[in-house]
Amino acid sequence: MPPSTPSESSAPSPTSSGISLRVNGETYALPVDHRTTLLDALRERLDLTGTKKGCDHGQCGACTVLVDGRRSLACLQLAVATEGREVTTIEGVADGDQLHPVQQAFLDLDGYQCGYCTPGQICSALGVIEEHAAGWPSAVTADIAPQAAPAPLDAAEIRERMSGNLCRCGAYASIVEAVARAADGSSAGVRGTEVTA
Ligand code: FES
Ligand code: FES
Repeated sequence: MPPSTPSESSAPSPTSSGISLRVNGETYALPVDHRTTLLDALRERLDLTGTKKGCDHGQCGACTVLVDGRRSLACLQLAVATEGREVTTIEGVADGDQLHPVQQAFLDLDGYQCGYCTPGQICSALGVIEEHAAGWPSAVTADIAPQAAPAPLDAAEIRERMSGNLCRCGAYASIVEAVARAADGSSAGVRGTEVTA
């Protein structure tokens, strides 16, 4: 049996810890090196490879997951800092064989080409719809006065709110349509995505 690497050892160490990760409703006990990102823990340790690594520097959005219902870049978050929180990845979005309305809208409207950015786009869209429903303004919301009527989730709002998710295939027009269609159905919530204003 090969010797354990520091990140795999369960012995107490100044550089590693045993943590408990909640992902898609399951609990995983995991010894991790303190430097392990959530993205690497998901992909390399839990084999949840739906979450993609693009830039690994917080600039492309490919690694977007939901943490306690908020959008989070898994490449910028340490796994140890995620302990006790509820992580939702693309693997946890569908209900068995039943696609989530956001997934179905991406499929129906060709909101992808190669598909590499798509898991992050869909997780981000889930967060966008919940954030908008909770009344959170964006940088393009015209009237942010507390008494103002909620701005519609129109194309400008969707583009702004999804602007952290890059698509090298340039499927943006269809992505905006898919988010708009899914938001219209407003049945976007998945486990752990509820947010409060
Ligand atoms: S891989 Fe995380 S933002 Fe690009
Ligand atoms: S579909 Fe290819 S990068 Fe977005």
